[in-house]
Amino acid sequence: MSPHSPSPRAVLDGIPAYVPKPPQPPATGESHRLFLNENPYPPLPSALARISWAAARTNHYPGIFPEELTAALAGKLDVPLSHVVTGPGSVGIYQQIGQAMLSPGDEVVYAWPSFEAFPIVVRMAGAVPVEVPLSDDTHDLEAMAAAITPRTSMVLLCEPNNPTGTAVGTAELKQFLDRVPEHVLVVLDEAYFEFYQAPDAPNGVELHRDRPNLVVLRTFSKAYGLAGLRVGYGVAHPEIADALRKCAVPCGVGRIAEQAALAALDAEDELFEQVSGITAERERLRGALRAQGWTTPKSETNFLWMPLGEDSDAVAAALEERGLLVRNFSGTGLRITVGTPEANDLLIATLETLKPAR
Ligand SMILES: Cc1ncc(COP(=O)(O)O)c(C=O)c1O
Repeated sequence: MSPHSPSPRAVLDGIPAYVPKPPQPPATGESHRLFLNENPYPPLPSALARISWAAARTNHYPGIFPEELTAALAGKLDVPLSHVVTGPGSVGIYQQIGQAMLSPGDEVVYAWPSFEAFPIVVRMAGAVPVEVPLSDDTHDLEAMAAAITPRTSMVLLCEPNNPTGTAVGTAELKQFLDRVPEHVLVVLDEAYFEFYQAPDAPNGVELHRDRPNLVVLRTFSKAYGLAGLRVGYGVAHPEIADALRKCAVPCGVGRIAEQAALAALDAEDELFEQVSGITAERERLRGALRAQGWTTPKSETNFLWMPLGEDSDAVAAALEERGLLVRNFSGTGLRITVGTPEANDLLIATLETLKPAR
């Protein structure tokens, strides 16, 4: 490259470049996508009908913002319209948050390991990541509160946590939020909210009502089964929500995504039955794995974490041979999405052949 070439911002040097995957040989036999925490079931017929209705109108732009969906969300969550922001997946909203709320040199506190987008959002803004190790695979809220300094402008909290699946209860979370100074923004990512069904599970939307420094993010990609359409939402007080909207890509949520999300909201009873089936499978899977001698922490999501350390590559490769495609955090562990009962049976049977010596 010549010294006169345009140069990207230096902060991008710290962000890995996207490397397209080499073409894969055609799969032999069935494979199961257990690596992105997707819903294993296709969209409901009612969503597919709305998708094809909207598909016939793709010669028209959608609204700058998906107003019908925004209104439906405001109604469902019982919040003013001005509190709802939308984006092309919740990762789209993270970009808006980075642009709207971070300045170079700001410190951002988050746990690690946690959502892989965190260091990217922080570095992209030229801000400084402050990573606080998990304790027992769970957020160490005491240590996170202690990591807040006068330079901290944001805390990122993925609850329940990806990739460990663990979660904290409402009282613990409230106590932490009360310790965060008012000028520090807390982003509470509830991508797996619908799978956390314990009586003391936090509800970020309720917590946000008297906390103007809290942004809650949720998505249609997991429980609602619409990952391929890219639609997520956030709830925040208007000063923050307005700022996030200013940084949104206009028309960033397409009409097909909006209509499918509306159909999914209308079909929540049916979808939540599916979610209960997935959480029941999660418990079955965890019980079977533990009986085989594997360690896997209690999960409140649609995936399980296996902290395998150095064995993670070998176990991932053995699973892949059977068509079970899981997320390998090489040298640390595997994150395995709860699949259909058939996929889970195959996973249990395969892990039985690999189980650790006792
Ligand atoms: C914690 C967390 N937040 C957000 C996302 C992405 O969601 P979306 O598809 O809405 O961008 C994921 C996806 O894996 C996630 O695990």
